[in-house]
Amino acid sequence: MALPTLLLLASASLTSAHFGIEYPPMRANTLGSSKNSSYSQWTNPCAGVPGNLTDRPITPWPLSGGGSLKLDLHHHWTYLFINLGLGPDVSNFNYTLTNPFWNETGNGTLCIPKLAVPADLPVTEGTQGSLQVVTVGDDGNALYNCADIVFRANATALGGDDCKSSPGVSYTEVGAAKVDTGNGSAAGGSGSGSGSKSAGAGSGVNLVALSSTVALAMVFVLGMSV
Ligand SMILES: *[C@@H]1O[C@H](CO)[C@@H](O)[C@H](O)[C@H]1NC(C)=O
Ligand SMILES: *[C@@H]1O[C@H](CO)[C@@H](O)[C@H](O)[C@H]1NC(C)=O
Ligand SMILES: *[C@@H]1O[C@H](CO)[C@@H](O)[C@H](O)[C@H]1NC(C)=O
Ligand SMILES: *[C@@H]1O[C@H](CO)[C@@H](O)[C@H](O)[C@H]1NC(C)=O
Ligand SMILES: *[C@@H]1O[C@H](CO)[C@@H](O)[C@H](O)[C@H]1NC(C)=O
Ligand SMILES: *[C@@H]1O[C@H](CO)[C@@H](O)[C@H](O)[C@H]1NC(C)=O
Ligand SMILES: *[C@@H]1O[C@H](CO)[C@@H](O)[C@H](O)[C@H]1NC(C)=O
Repeated sequence: MALPTLLLLASASLTSAHFGIEYPPMRANTLGSSKNSSYSQWTNPCAGVPGNLTDRPITPWPLSGGGSLKLDLHHHWTYLFINLGLGPDVSNFNYTLTNPFWNETGNGTLCIPKLAVPADLPVTEGTQGSLQVVTVGDDGNALYNCADIVFRANATALGGDDCKSSPGVSYTEVGAAKVDTGNGSAAGGSGSGSGSKSAGAGSGVNLVALSSTVALAMVFVLGMSV
């Protein structure tokens, strides 16, 4: 518990207005007064942090299976989109990992033990990629942040005490709304999904993660100002 608690406390002091990604670590600090002043989470796609930044952390993610997603949220609620792009310097985040997107509620850490990626994702050992996390308030304004990963067969997901949500922090999948295009048809999907709520910790056994679906271990720290 010590490390996650420290991370939570550290991030809480930084994220009064924006959100951070704890795991995989953000490409660069985009929070607080110590951030590079050219970075802003209002900037699409990655808060102004270049995808070819040297010395960015590139975190191993399981090549297949399911992985962890951990967020630290500081807003009462927010819509949440998580996208993935492949390659060493991603400009096209064209794989949506939250379909339908999420409505996150609560101020604190959100940890998802396993976040699925598309079954047909064209990745092999050593494929690089980037995660884009987008939070959207009910006014439609969005914040962006990215983290970089490399798919590895030997990578594992977070589990146990490393992947616990704060009390009261959870998410729901937002049923895809029907959109009347005025053309006699409607767009939108069922939005049934797994409906998995947060707060559950993973088994904590890495072998379990390796033997199941893609393990995308992610930590997000959300916190839009009120
Ligand atoms: C701030 O970010 C820009 C763009 O990535 C970079 O060129 C510049 O060197 C950075 N400044 C510092 C102090 O890191
Ligand atoms: C990163 O990309 C930018 C724009 O594409 C380019 O100007 C810059 O030289 C690149 N930096 C490195 C270190 O490759
Ligand atoms: C979220 O929690 C932090 C730490 O307890 C607190 O400083 C902040 O004001 C809270 N934000 C909201 C919107 O409740
Ligand atoms: C996603 O974008 C990459 C790079 O532009 C492209 O190679 C790939 O085919 C795209 N995949 C999908 C499913 O659109
Ligand atoms: C998202 O959650 C917030 C807080 O619970 C709620 O006010 C809002 O209506 C929800 N949005 C949708 C689309 O369900
Ligand atoms: C995982 O595989 C990579 C690539 O082969 C290797 O560099 C790394 O040391 C391995 N990590 C572990 C924990 O075995
Ligand atoms: C409207 O519906 C017609 C018939 O289904 C279709 O051919 C056309 O592409 C649609 N237009 C738009 C803008 O969706």
